[in-house]
Amino acid sequence: MNDTFLRACKGERTDYTPVWIMRQAGRYLPEYRKVRADMDFLTLCKTPEKAAEVTIQPVNILSVDAAILFSDILIPAEKMGLKLRFLENKGPKFGNPVRTINDVKKLRVIVPDEDVPYVLETIKILRRELKVPLIGFAGAPYTLATYMIEGGSSKNFLTTKKLMYAEPKIYMSLMEKVTETTIAYLSAQVRAGVQAVQLFDSWAGALSPTDYKTYAFPSAERVVKALKQTGVPVIYFVNDCAGIVDLASGAGSDVMGVCWRIDLKKAISAIKGRTSIQGNMDPCLLYSPKSLIVKEAAKILKKGTAARGHIFNLGHGILPDTPVDNVKFLVDTVHAWKQ
Ligand code: CP3
Repeated sequence: MNDTFLRACKGERTDYTPVWIMRQAGRYLPEYRKVRADMDFLTLCKTPEKAAEVTIQPVNILSVDAAILFSDILIPAEKMGLKLRFLENKGPKFGNPVRTINDVKKLRVIVPDEDVPYVLETIKILRRELKVPLIGFAGAPYTLATYMIEGGSSKNFLTTKKLMYAEPKIYMSLMEKVTETTIAYLSAQVRAGVQAVQLFDSWAGALSPTDYKTYAFPSAERVVKALKQTGVPVIYFVNDCAGIVDLASGAGSDVMGVCWRIDLKKAISAIKGRTSIQGNMDPCLLYSPKSLIVKEAAKILKKGTAARGHIFNLGHGILPDTPVDNVKFLVDTVHAWKQ
């Protein structure tokens, strides 16, 4: 087993900087598109043999140092009671978003063994087949709640913020249920065999630092602390993190995942040695000439040596039409890099 990724999570010395790519299983890979041609996205997530197959694709094609379970952060919300659809190229939609206290009361905290057996089965298949560590994941409670309140993706998160500001009790009771669900969901993933977990706080950066502290951080911290007790490394990824990375890195995670809008050196000094770091290349750089990819990767790798441990990654998910050859080139470049 290649444990370089797990060692870097814990801040142990490694022979090289491990790398994986957020959203590494996906549409930029022709092999993924071939599997997807036969079934819609949610069916793929719920068919363990196929979900396992697409999880393994990038490990074989790119030689990354970790696999991430193929699923989606919105699946637990569906099981809490929301009607989920993925419209082709339009993103996710919930038919009955959460706006009132009655909407919150109708939601249930999921029981993973009964509600998401296919996720746990996918993990079991993967553990038999993989030679690199398997990362499980969930949305951070705030990020998941934005989808549940907005009913889909959003630009300004106005409906979420209106609820937060005008009806804090409703917002907080929703967060309570989402947090309990997330803890149950990730704990079940660990019992099924994942060797690390990542909490995606993709939209936390839309909040002011004060609002992040009040409305998002406490629930993320609760999830991190609960998962720490399982013994697997916990990665807390916060997109658009420049204004809140100092706060976010106090959640108690083993690794802080950062986007590209912050200089890695600044992020590392804000973290003050509390966690390892993961990131932080702009996904758009993968469309640039190889000479620039090498140059930018080297800058990040060099800065990363100041951290407790560094896991190379993009600052957010890979884009759907990224040239595969450049992604392979990036992974090889990271692996070959020496200080
Ligand atoms: O390879 C991996 O990283 C594992 C699989 C994974 C998916 N979604 C598959 C997916 C992971 C870790 C996620 C997390 C996720 N899902 C997040 C957090 C990460 C982030 O990017 O911020 C969020 C916000 C979602 C919600 C979501 N799922 C949206 C907004 C969309 C539509 C946008 C898009 O890219 O199409 C999805 C769909 C989705 N999730 C796809 C994949 C591969 C595309 C589905 C397809 O095949 O058409």
